[in-house]
Amino acid sequence: MTHADDDAGRSRSLAALRAEFGDGPLFPRLEGDVIEVDGVTFRCGYEERSTADDFVIVKVPAHVAALREMARAHRGAAIVELGIAEGGSTALLALEAAPRRLVAVDLEAERLEALDRFIADRGLGGSVSAHYGVDQADRAQLGSLVDGQLDGAPIDLVIDDASHQLDPTRTSFEVLFPRLRPGGLYAIEDWSADHTFRDAVVASFREASDEQKAELAAALTKAASDPAPAAPKRPLTDLAVELVLARATFESQIVAEVIVSEFWLMARRGPAELPRDGWTLGSAFDDHFGYLR
Ligand SMILES: C[S@@+](CC[C@H](N)C(=O)[O-])C[C@H]1O[C@@H](n2cnc3c(N)ncnc32)[C@H](O)[C@@H]1O
Repeated sequence: MTHADDDAGRSRSLAALRAEFGDGPLFPRLEGDVIEVDGVTFRCGYEERSTADDFVIVKVPAHVAALREMARAHRGAAIVELGIAEGGSTALLALEAAPRRLVAVDLEAERLEALDRFIADRGLGGSVSAHYGVDQADRAQLGSLVDGQLDGAPIDLVIDDASHQLDPTRTSFEVLFPRLRPGGLYAIEDWSADHTFRDAVVASFREASDEQKAELAAALTKAASDPAPAAPKRPLTDLAVELVLARATFESQIVAEVIVSEFWLMARRGPAELPRDGWTLGSAFDDHFGYLR
């Protein structure tokens, strides 16, 4: 696929980012936004331009640094990554974690040639694999793919950088968390994006001219008068609350620890046995105090 026809192909999510933020870099050019690891260049951004030795990674430099640290803490691990995009994080994990197995998946149907070449050039075909047309919300597809790729062995680390939507993110959690070994880590990226977005809207409203404020007020009034408004989507924060409630449950050894950081919402797997298929997070707690009502 060439860059000319990409908007119709594998890069719908990157095209959406471009539509939102324009053609320039998504992130302002920051110090350290180009790094080199083992002869491979990684560029923070969202352009479609990865090659086998020069990848775009959709993260700010501080996030890349944190990911490198996480990867080094999981050397030789069995890792599942949701969300490949331009392949930057997958290639970085392959280099920094030297995983026993790295299974990366993306909803996009088209293979990313740059990543395939990277894997082939470095002789990583036995340990790193990329799978396309895989929806994190498809329990059967995701579960059987991971079981097949890992020969049923437990996962050490899951990194979910895919849809960032509550329902699909919870679904893949319910598929993969039971497959984590006790002590294994499940990390969900950009969990606070809905908050950041709303904060930015509020900030820009505060700075808006009177004319812009009047326009926005008119748009809000129109939206409020919709007789059948779409139900507002719940943010990923709900999942954070659900994990805290699962940790709070006295007898539950399902979630051993919940860690909330700038870049990740993380849950560490407890020792409780879980059914491989059909488990739901909602079964792990009672919402006694109505946090999720
Ligand atoms: C933020 S990008 C991933 C960035 C990449 N991990 C990195 O750091 O460079 C999100 C990716 O998730 C994929 N995605 C979105 N929804 C998905 C879903 N339901 N299942 C699987 N992948 C999905 C998109 O196609 C996109 O490539």
